[in-house]
Amino acid sequence: MAYDRDLAFVYRQPTRIVFGEKTVNDTGIEVSELGCSRAFIVTDPGVIEAGLVERVEKALGSKYSGVYDGCIQDTGIHVINEAAAAAKEAGADCLVSVGGGSVIDTAKGMAILLKEGGKLEDYSGFQLLSRPQTPHVVVPTTAGTGSEATMTAVVKDWDKHQKYLFSDNYIIPNVGILDPTIVEGLPPGLTATTGMDAFTHAIEAIHTIQASPIADAMALQAIRLIYEFLPRCVEDGSDLLARGQQQCAAAMAGIAFDNAQVGIPHALAHSLGGIFKVPHGLANSIVLPHCMRFNLEECADRYALIARAMGLDVSGMSEMDAANAAIDAVAAFTGIIGVPQKLRDVGVPEDGLQEVSELAMGDGCVVYNPALIYESDQLLGVLKEAW
Ligand SMILES: [Fe+2]
Repeated sequence: MAYDRDLAFVYRQPTRIVFGEKTVNDTGIEVSELGCSRAFIVTDPGVIEAGLVERVEKALGSKYSGVYDGCIQDTGIHVINEAAAAAKEAGADCLVSVGGGSVIDTAKGMAILLKEGGKLEDYSGFQLLSRPQTPHVVVPTTAGTGSEATMTAVVKDWDKHQKYLFSDNYIIPNVGILDPTIVEGLPPGLTATTGMDAFTHAIEAIHTIQASPIADAMALQAIRLIYEFLPRCVEDGSDLLARGQQQCAAAMAGIAFDNAQVGIPHALAHSLGGIFKVPHGLANSIVLPHCMRFNLEECADRYALIARAMGLDVSGMSEMDAANAAIDAVAAFTGIIGVPQKLRDVGVPEDGLQEVSELAMGDGCVVYNPALIYESDQLLGVLKEAW
């Protein structure tokens, strides 16, 4: 059995979650609650164009101290240096990130630089910080990464083509404001792929070797909500009830995997993104059912829990049959929400799979996978199935 019920664990969840339609109007109140009075907005041009930053700026009123709108996909050291300098110049005492995963990661890096100074690279690693960092309020504009409630940030050095991972309790954001009207305009394709990132987080939190009963509770409820509400979000973006449930699910899935970690679906997705620029949620979505099949022998009991969370009728079935039903339903789900099914359909050449498998072997997520990964050929086999 992959799930050791005697495993010791620490569960943490320090982020204050503020949920509801138009709660973005309370951003100023949340900043005051943190004891701050000069909030600096961190965002990207697309979010500005969608008119979302304007709403946050208005909500901040006299507590607004400035904005940095130069965030890019796969944030970089150079971006964070520039943004932190702008925030310092503005006399900021807290950060309000308005955007998706990369914007939030930018602000996490800025939070360190504004507090500690020096070179950001020096804080890359696991739990290297020793005190609370610059207060950070997140207004997510997608419902997938769960980054508003997680301890990690991934930052690229664009000159050296190197990635830095920051994993620290002290960069978990203080507040996440989940306002369904903020994600209302997200197009169906992005809604589906970012939503599948959250679905993958939740399923991975169930199958990793670091799963725990409290993280399970978060993950299983996230699976229930995503299975029910993500198709509704894709079909009708203005369905605010569905949008809100998906936002809650993404945050819960983030909390779950922040505690329980993730395994080979994310290791492969990181490599597919790094080498072939496959968007994170899309890569996860394609490899997820194949990774589950690969792991099946190790955690059929865990996948049976997922089948029940999805509401499948598995009464009278063996755990193995229920687990297989879960995997089939996960594969069918990606079809229902219109996400591509195969790596060959998203610009990945067959002769590139070897390189992806070798890069993924060095990914930190591999060690938490339920089945032991000891050679890249195991990952290559999964990739071939997904191709
Ligand atoms: Fe992810």
